[in-house]
This record gives sequence, C-alpha cells and structure tokens, in this order.
Amino acid sequence: MITGGAGFIGSHVVRLFVAKYPDYRIINFDKLTYAGNLENLKDIENADNYVFVKGDIVSVEDVKKAFEKYEVTDVIHLAAESHVDRSIEGPMDFVMTNVVGTVNLLQQAKENWKEGEHVFHHVSTDEVYGSLGEEGLFKETTPYDPRSPYSASKASSDHFVMAFYHTYGLPVKMSNCSNNYGSHHFPEKLIPLMIHNVVNNKPLPVYGKGENVRDWLWVNDHASAIDTIFHSGRIGESYNVGGLNEWKNIDLVKFLCQLMDQKLGRSLGESEKLITYVKDRKGHDLRYAIDATKLEKELGWKPSITFEKGLEDTVDWYLNNSEWVEKVTSGAYKDYYENMYSDR
Ligand code: NAD
Ligand code: TYD
Repeated sequence: MITGGAGFIGSHVVRLFVAKYPDYRIINFDKLTYAGNLENLKDIENADNYVFVKGDIVSVEDVKKAFEKYEVTDVIHLAAESHVDRSIEGPMDFVMTNVVGTVNLLQQAKENWKEGEHVFHHVSTDEVYGSLGEEGLFKETTPYDPRSPYSASKASSDHFVMAFYHTYGLPVKMSNCSNNYGSHHFPEKLIPLMIHNVVNNKPLPVYGKGENVRDWLWVNDHASAIDTIFHSGRIGESYNVGGLNEWKNIDLVKFLCQLMDQKLGRSLGESEKLITYVKDRKGHDLRYAIDATKLEKELGWKPSITFEKGLEDTVDWYLNNSEWVEKVTSGAYKDYYENMYSDR
C-alpha cells in the first residue's frame, strides 16, 4: 500500500511501481486533499495491478478496512501535509495527518503483521535536521532540530516510526530527502509557483533577500531512491536522499527566468523583471544540504540527470499541461494565494 499516492511525489512512486512490478498489487490510499489529484494518475488508472482507495490515514476505520480487505503486506508512507507556509498558518492539520495519521498506520501494521515478511517504509524530509549555516551537510547522524510546525510534525512521525521498530520490532525503513522538483508539483511550492507566475506575467515573490539555500532533487530520482531503499535498505535504518545540488533561491529563480525566456520566446531578461522581494517567511531555515553517501555506497543509488536537464523537462511539462495547471489553480488556490501573498 502506498499512502499519499495521488500527491506530487506519491504519484511518481505509484507510476514507477505499477510499471516495474506487475506482480505486486499497488493500493494507492489517499484522502484527496487539495494536494491530491487523480488526474496525476490518469495514464495508469486501469492497470491490472492498481487499486485506488479513498481514505484518511487518521481514521482507524479507514486504515483497518484497507489493511484487512487488501491483506496489505507492505507500506510506503508518503501521505502528509507538506507545505511549510500552510503549517505556519495552521499547525493542527499537520499534527493530525503527519503525527496521528502515521501512528495510526504504524498501529495497524503492528496489529496485522503478526507473521511473514513485511516492510513499513516511512518517507520523510531533511527539514527534520533544522537549518545549516554556510558549511556542512546533513548526515543520518545529525541530531534532529526541527524549527517549523511542518518539520516538527515530520520529526515527531520519524521518532514514532523508530519507536515502533525498537519497542515492537516493526520492520521499518526510513528515508529523508531534500527538496524535490518535477512534473505534477502543486504551485504553492517555489519552482511550480514561479513557473506559473512567469507564464501569467505575475510578480515572482522571493522571500526575504532570496539568500536561503535549498538542495534540489528531481522527483523521479527520489522515486528511484525509494524503490531502492524499500527493496534493498536495511530494516531499522534511515537513508538520506539528495543530489548535491544546492541553489540560493534568488539564483534559482533567475536561472528559471532565463530558461523560460527561451521557452516563451521572450527577450533575455524579460521574466526576471517580475522578481519582487517580499516579507520573509517566519523562522525561515537558512540552508538545507544532504550528504547521501550512505545510500550511494551501501545501495548503489545515484541521481540520473542533471538539474539543468530536470528543470528544462519540468518547465516543458508545465507548458504542455496548461489544463492540469488551470484545474489546480482555479477555486481554492485563488483564496490561498490571496491569503498568503496579498499583503506580503
Ligand atoms: P503533497 O502535499 O504533494 O501530497 C500529499 C498527498 O497526501 C496528497 O495526495 C494528499 O491527498 C495526501 N494526504 C494528505 N493528508 C492525508 C490523509 N490524512 N490521509 C490520506 N492521504 C492524505 O506531498 P509531496 O510533496 O508529494 O510529499 C510526499 C511525502 O514526501 C511527504 O511525507 C513529505 O513530507 C515528503 N517529502 C516531500 C519533499 C518535497 O520536496 N515535496 C521532500 C522530502 C520529503
Ligand atoms: P518551498 O518550495 O516552500 O519548500 P521548503 O520550504 O519546504 O524548502 O520553498 C523553497 C524555498 O523557496 C524556501 O527557502 C522558501 C522560498 N520561497 C520563496 O522565496 N517564495 C515563495 O513564494 C515560496 C513558495 C518559497
């Protein structure tokens, strides 16, 4: 069972598993919040080895029913509230889904997996490690120091996952990944939001001075890392996932603007004029950067493409899928945008 399989990363994981493992029955368990979208999986919805179940990981009944009906043998857990800015506005949804929902899944796995071989793979973030200064990288041994309500909820869920391993012997694995980018990314996060605004000639809201650094990984490379860790990682271990690809936000936005000038046939420098510096995010973590040596050395994983290629593919996807963008940005997105950016 893959939870959160209708979201950004989840849909890439589901698609990979459905295509690569015809003998598995892939259950996509998702509540379809604003971030979940079955349009993301149109191409595989009729596959023989695929089932979609609408359910809430917080509900004991929903999760118990899915475990029993489909005799769930393994879980890859991606369902979450995932946006830092939303967590600052309202932390409680993050506590419910990320903490309570994760513990509910762990409980059901423990109840249902009395014998046989199983894996509970918890997908988490590098944000649990806190904020780096100019130097250094997050390792698996870096102490947890979450600073936003989002990262605090993910850190808590990680601790519960490891607690179920140590206390009950639940066969868990964990991965902590850096920022993802790619197709089907909801335009509340930096890269798809900037692409969307460039296309529509709207201001590009860069928080603070744009000096914060993020380490970007192509979403399909994250999906391949999850595949590798799920199948070959050691029980009870966590693996950091990242591609040594650090960018200051402002440099990334400028690079993206140049790429989009080319794609849209605009003169060089035109899109950059849309950059607007806005009020900083509260408690804005300065820098994230991942050391993925353990995953590379132990399991032989590495990213498959360069950032330049991945970003170009991503921009092409958004330009060729304006209907998808139109659907997800009509309705509630407009209110979100107004609320988040109007007096910034
Ligand atoms: P997303 O917000 O795009 O998708 C989340 C999915 O979970 C949606 O399909 C949503 O409908 C579903 N969901 C939310 N609450 C649910 C609930 N209560 N019950 C069932 N389903 C529910 O998130 P994403 O960016 O795809 O992230 C997936 C996972 O990867 C998350 O656990 C996130 O913390 C982690 N992660 C994300 C990134 C990133 O850059 N996006 C990086 C590292 C780790
Ligand atoms: P985001 O995509 O929200 O991911 P995260 O906060 O999980 O790293 O943001 C990435 C970086 O971009 C982060 O430093 C905040 C910044 N940012 C902006 O400058 N403007 C924006 O409109 C958004 C959404 C993010």
